Amino acid sequence: MSDQARETSAASTRRDFMKASSAVAGGVLAGSLAMAPRAYAAGSDVLKVGLVGCGGRGTGAAAQALNADPNVRLVAMGDAFADRLEGSLASLKETGLGDKIAVDSDHKFVGFNAYKQVIDSGIDVAVLTAPPHFRPAHLAYAVEKGKHVFAEKPVAVDAPGVRQVFAVSNLAKEKKLCLVSGLCWRYDYGMRATFDQIRSGAVGDITAIQATYHTSTLKKFPRQPGWSDMEFQLRNWQHMVWLGGDHNVEQHIHSLDKVAWAMGDEPPVQCTGSGGRQARTGAESGNAYDHFSVVYEYANGVKAFTSCRQIDGCSNDVSDHVFGTKGTCDIFAHSVKVGGKTAWKFKGQKGDMYQTEHNELFAAIRKGEPINNGDYMTKSTLMAIMGRMSAYTGKTITWEQALNSKENLTPASYDWTKLPEPVVAVPGVTQFV
Ligand SMILES: NC(=O)c1ccc[n+]([C@@H]2O[C@H](COP(=O)([O-])OP(=O)(O)OC[C@H]3O[C@@H](n4cnc5c(N)ncnc54)[C@H](O)[C@@H]3O)[C@@H](O)[C@H]2O)c1
Repeated sequence: MSDQARETSAASTRRDFMKASSAVAGGVLAGSLAMAPRAYAAGSDVLKVGLVGCGGRGTGAAAQALNADPNVRLVAMGDAFADRLEGSLASLKETGLGDKIAVDSDHKFVGFNAYKQVIDSGIDVAVLTAPPHFRPAHLAYAVEKGKHVFAEKPVAVDAPGVRQVFAVSNLAKEKKLCLVSGLCWRYDYGMRATFDQIRSGAVGDITAIQATYHTSTLKKFPRQPGWSDMEFQLRNWQHMVWLGGDHNVEQHIHSLDKVAWAMGDEPPVQCTGSGGRQARTGAESGNAYDHFSVVYEYANGVKAFTSCRQIDGCSNDVSDHVFGTKGTCDIFAHSVKVGGKTAWKFKGQKGDMYQTEHNELFAAIRKGEPINNGDYMTKSTLMAIMGRMSAYTGKTITWEQALNSKENLTPASYDWTKLPEPVVAVPGVTQFV
């Protein structure tokens, strides 16, 4: 198949897929087209930002939003916990952005409904950086209320969440709202140039991809007197599958998104994974695995061999390579080798991808030319969830199975009370739902 034919076929697959996904998602989004975004005079009107999820990434993203445009103000903040919100506000003020911060005590919101209060605070742009479990609901409310959005990855932890986000992203398109994804490598100039090379055939036809994310374990927050189960689990969200999706989803999505990028965002047909939990200990470690290995298979025969690990004391490796009929691309080195010799190497400035995300978001809002990253951010999230499903069950899982899965990780209620003990999946025993 020629590159052009492949592009056309991948594009129609994507279009069909988005159509099918919208149909699947029918009814999950209560939104209306009534609220169109207002127009902003270039540079002169103030763009008001609201931050939902004031942790490490949220604080960074808020600073990047404030640096992206001369006329931006942070006007509202929301978090599950007051200490996180105040810590974030204090560190933002320390960065010298004080004159762009206008969050008064009436616009600091705490608890599970904080996102609605932030979004209803007259903001123009919502920065959504709470744990991934909450993203579909936060995104749906922001888009329903006509806000431009920066949404951190991943955008869901289960298939019902993915289906909801597909619908939200289509609604954002219809409403001409920006939807910028935190899959940050897509905003790195070196990566963009590298993937341009791959997509334009520098390695020939792709035959295989390797994606590895081997790193150390995660921070744990021991239970404090007075913490409910909910508070304990939220403080340790990365270890709780219902909140973070497990690290094949929460962290390895960066690598899987690069696989997807190389493949023109055509979804894999199926995947087969394995994984387990060898070194995680203690209640803070919830029910997350500490290693996964998943092979994704594509309709054209390409296989992506992917692996992630979060265990201390091991050799770490974060790398991706794309192998083709002509040559090989080392993604992080931004180089292509043909016949063992360097045929191309990126020599430009990589930029700061986190800042570029916001620079492009705010420029797009000013220009009235919306960016919508909904397609890839949602498909890469499902690709990551599909790998987790396969590793947990020990079964090969197809894309359609994953997309239509009924597994819903939402708790019975969002209360500061008791929660069921997190259960660790056992391959061959845990059932696909
Ligand atoms: N793109 C990247 O490179 C990158 C890097 C780090 C984190 N992230 C993503 O950003 C998100 C946040 O990660 P983090 O590292 O900042 O975690 P964090 O724990 O530092 O921050 C999460 C914050 O959300 C708050 N929160 C929890 N439930 C909430 C709710 N229902 N409503 C509002 N706030 C709530 C927490 O109290 C906490 O302050 C995750 O999705 C993560 O995957 C992306």
